[in-house]
Amino acid sequence: MERGNFGSKIGAVLAAAGSAVGLGNIWRFPTECGSNGGAAFILIYILCVLLLAMPVMVAEFVIGRASRSNTVGSYRVLAPGKPWVVSGFLGVLGGFMVLSYYSVVAGWTLDYAFESISGGLLAHTDYGAVFNDFVSSPWRPVVFLGIFLFVTHCVVAAGVEKGIERFSKVLMPLLLLIIFVLIGFSISMPNASTGISFLLKPDFSKVTKDVILSAMGQAFFTLSVGIGTLATYASYFNKETKLVKTALGVCTIDTMVAVSAGFIIFPALFSVGVDADSGPGLVFITLPYVFNEAFGNMPVLEYIFSALFYVLLVLAALTSTISMHEIGTAYIHETFKLTRPKAAMVVTAICLTFGIICSLSFGLWKEVTVMGMTFFDLFDFITAKFLMPLGGLLICTFVGWDMNKKLVASELNSRFTPLLMILFSWVAPIGIGIIFVYGLISG
Ligand code: TRP
Repeated sequence: MERGNFGSKIGAVLAAAGSAVGLGNIWRFPTECGSNGGAAFILIYILCVLLLAMPVMVAEFVIGRASRSNTVGSYRVLAPGKPWVVSGFLGVLGGFMVLSYYSVVAGWTLDYAFESISGGLLAHTDYGAVFNDFVSSPWRPVVFLGIFLFVTHCVVAAGVEKGIERFSKVLMPLLLLIIFVLIGFSISMPNASTGISFLLKPDFSKVTKDVILSAMGQAFFTLSVGIGTLATYASYFNKETKLVKTALGVCTIDTMVAVSAGFIIFPALFSVGVDADSGPGLVFITLPYVFNEAFGNMPVLEYIFSALFYVLLVLAALTSTISMHEIGTAYIHETFKLTRPKAAMVVTAICLTFGIICSLSFGLWKEVTVMGMTFFDLFDFITAKFLMPLGGLLICTFVGWDMNKKLVASELNSRFTPLLMILFSWVAPIGIGIIFVYGLISG
């Protein structure tokens, strides 16, 4: 079968970076950073990226490009008859689950973007109530979830080069531009320096075992590794794409965006004297309030700042949902010989169904719990604390121990190969093994 391909190296890098840069950077990172002590968290997080998550990324690239197949098919090509294929199936399952609940939050960002563009958001003052009314409504978040999945579906159905690559090439530069404008706004606010030093001066007294675990979880989530997203993308890389360089590029862009999101949010927070430690409501409740306080007597600036910010979130989320969708679409398209648009339709339908269930768990089905968690929390738990670390562990172990060494070396084609082999075989599996076991025990 003719397979899709990224038409250019830069297209491949931007698509992979688009997958990595998402709500994980702009919503989850500031939240985690705020509740885990700022600069000290950032340092540990960077170590986790370098030692654990980046090796998994490179390993996924190796598997994807060497096999030129979807995440299940790749093990059938590289290790026929061996049980590694289970890791591929876990990836497809993870892709469905991640897309289902991530699209719920992506839908919220879309609503906030519309609301801030139409001016509706600025008309309120009690943002906690606005947010809670919205997420617990039985239909509004579901509508936005549907719109978001529909747009994702259209891009994926259009194909690798004409859909994913073309979109990433436009959205990623636009996203970086919006970030620069917003940082400019934020650091010129009065007292912004308190926020800046929160981000730059590490306070190691805040570092506990939990902080280290949160940093590792964040590194995995934000780089989209562990469930075969990047292996699937790498199966569309051409032979000239340098895997190690691409991984370094993607990790650099992703970390810069996360830290930049910190530079947008914390100076603004400290400038108006709001606590940095306000949890997941930070972006939807605290920030509109901050915009309001900060630009209260300059409504035009408030309008521009908030509209740009939520549009930024939507764009970042979209390039990520596209990559999650592609895992399942590539698998169904190549395994069951459905056309791409039909395969994409299957994925969209399944994720819409589960997405609605996750969305309702903020309102109508709040009381319905499994193992003490609502459906939304359960999906988050199973993917972030179970499927992703387990997948990452299996992926590194496979490339480090079982895959043909010559093939690995020729795919890597880098002077860092010996170092990477140590990371794949020892450092990453042991490090990830620790989070995995601890994550399960501590729930
Ligand atoms: N990395 C993305 C973010 O930071 C989310 C994401 C995309 C993802 N694809 C993934 C997370 C696959 C886990 C697995 O928002």
